[in-house]
Amino acid sequence: MDQVSLSLGQGEVLAVIGENGAGKSTLMKILAGVQTADSGDIRMDGRNCHFESTREAMDHGIVLIHQELNLCDNLNIGQNIFLGREPRTAGIINRREINRRSSEYLKMVGLDVAPTTVVGSLTIGKQQMVEIAKALSVNARVLIMDEPTSSLSSKESDALFRLIGQLRDQGVSIIYISHRLSEVKRLADRVVVLRDGQNAGELQGEQIQHDAMVQCMVGRDVSQFYSRQRHPTGDVVFKADKIRTFEWPQHELSFEIRAGEIVGLAGLVGAGRTELLQSLFGITPLIAGECWLEGKRVLLNSPSEAIDHGICLVPEDRKQHGLIVDFSVVNNIGLPNLKPNQRGFGFSNFAKQRHSSIEMCDLLDIKTPTIRQLVKFLSGGNQQKVVIGKWLAQDPKILLLDEPTRGIDIGAKEQIYKLMEQLASESMAILFASSEMEEILGLADRVIVLHEGHVSGVLDHQQLSEQAVMQLATGKAVDTKPKA
Ligand SMILES: Nc1ncnc2c1ncn2[C@@H]1O[C@H](COP(=O)(O)OP(=O)(O)OP(=O)(O)O)[C@@H](O)[C@H]1O
Ligand SMILES: [Mg+2]
Repeated sequence: MDQVSLSLGQGEVLAVIGENGAGKSTLMKILAGVQTADSGDIRMDGRNCHFESTREAMDHGIVLIHQELNLCDNLNIGQNIFLGREPRTAGIINRREINRRSSEYLKMVGLDVAPTTVVGSLTIGKQQMVEIAKALSVNARVLIMDEPTSSLSSKESDALFRLIGQLRDQGVSIIYISHRLSEVKRLADRVVVLRDGQNAGELQGEQIQHDAMVQCMVGRDVSQFYSRQRHPTGDVVFKADKIRTFEWPQHELSFEIRAGEIVGLAGLVGAGRTELLQSLFGITPLIAGECWLEGKRVLLNSPSEAIDHGICLVPEDRKQHGLIVDFSVVNNIGLPNLKPNQRGFGFSNFAKQRHSSIEMCDLLDIKTPTIRQLVKFLSGGNQQKVVIGKWLAQDPKILLLDEPTRGIDIGAKEQIYKLMEQLASESMAILFASSEMEEILGLADRVIVLHEGHVSGVLDHQQLSEQAVMQLATGKAVDTKPKA
């Protein structure tokens, strides 16, 4: 085990950054009593403390909001906030009291929903706010947030940043983990950088600049944004003709994707990007329209049909749709090869799988001790790479990706961009949805912009600008004449 140290002042916002697998989440889990350290100690107000459980850490006012949220989907908000410490009258859980107090905390975090709302029905952004409301309810003195904005809309992120400011002013100390360096720059009083489970440096005040953080994290210069080579594209491989999705049945969508083309799917949260990708992969089949693949009409009524046609989807929510975390890396990469009624993986199959797993670990630089490691023991970013590897091993004709670099560190992002470019140059067709403007502008040959379930515009490379994408995303028409 490598040694790592950290200090935190009252009312300080400390950002902890580092590459995927640097040990950020692990250190936070130790501070919050989820895991225990092999050696070393934790001191609070000068006193030694030792946490055997999250409950003990919580009693000291330390609360961790996990990278993968930790709420019970089937319970309501109030039940989640007071889980295990329900207020009681005469031994009976006092629901009215739970709801009354929960409402107060919800108001503090600016969440306008009833405490009786079932958590599973909330967006991830709102669930995040519930986690914070829960932290407030235990009077947290130290609030640890592990990649809180990775699935928030920019509006939700802004609300979170305001709340962090308020908490800081009230003297709450905050540890903030993020791969988004612009957020770190905006929020942090101090930045601690981890690399390979050890301290790699510290930045303060004016030193907190993008390039300095990257240098310290990666140990080398990484350009502000990856600039890609563009290749001529080939024939149309995929054509959607007047399709309608279950979510937005009132709108017809039509578009084409060419071989070797990287097409971006832009839009605001809720514009229907995820729904469209899921329909093309057969998760929620289309309710009307036709899909054509290499000139032949195809039906995409289930993921297995889509896979048979060479269409693969790297989903947004890796934990729910992308991985079986109790399986090893090699078995996850082999998952798409499993057919219904097939038992086990079969011997020859396994050799092939082993081979492609090693290839993918290499290609994507997945940090794992062996391919037999269970995925749940990998860091968040490395889990994401396993999902990508799983589908790449299928050698698809069309690769659909939904927020492919979520939770991926800046160095690894570049690797993924390079890989997408390389696959396109080998004439794979790629359609990716992203909320990161830089990614859309820097990577796409062409951008399809969605607004409330319909295509509000298509921008080719010459027409592409942040302004044009934003205008279309908010439903305004733009002048799409190429710039002179
Ligand atoms: N100090 C340490 N010494 C040795 N191994 C460590 C140390 N800290 C973490 N590890 C190991 O490194 C792996 C990844 O760590 P962790 O999940 O904390 O990464 P992370 O920085 O949160 O990455 P990501 O950005 O991808 O979420 C874990 O398997 C963990 O056991
Ligand atoms: Mg992590």
